[in-house]
Amino acid sequence: MTDNNQTTGMSQPGMNQPDKASAYEITRRRFLTLVFGLASALGLGAFAAPLVRYAYPVLKGEVYEKVKVTTTADVTADGIRFDYQDVPSMVIQKKDKSYAAFSLVCTHLGCIVKWVAKDNEFECPCHGGKFDENGKNIAGPPPKPLTQYNLTVQGTDIYVEGIKS
Ligand code: FES
Repeated sequence: MTDNNQTTGMSQPGMNQPDKASAYEITRRRFLTLVFGLASALGLGAFAAPLVRYAYPVLKGEVYEKVKVTTTADVTADGIRFDYQDVPSMVIQKKDKSYAAFSLVCTHLGCIVKWVAKDNEFECPCHGGKFDENGKNIAGPPPKPLTQYNLTVQGTDIYVEGIKS
């Protein structure tokens, strides 16, 4: 006698043949892999986004707020630090007694520059880049000036609002 199932290729229920529906079921392993993968991607994105923004703050094109950052009485020879839209920044008083505000993010590779009052320049600790009191790149590898903000003085309050063009 011949087994009809072997010769015809037909299956009967309960004969260890995967049914089509189970091929599309999400196994526990696949589900956990998806959940952890998604969580890792979100976590990495949440971690990386501020770093990228910190390193390469492209402020142009964003919506700017007018923000009071300090007062004239608070600006010493060492300048005064503030963050503008999460970007480390500084107000300095120039030799002509006017005020200027800059992003402290070096235009070379994004290190944070320091204002060196005695030399009247910004210096980058990473590769020796230097910028004058107008933010102009004057030494080292930085390819362009520091980002300068629009600054206004109202009474004794100093405000910044967007990028100076
Ligand atoms: S990052 Fe400033 S000189 Fe290289």
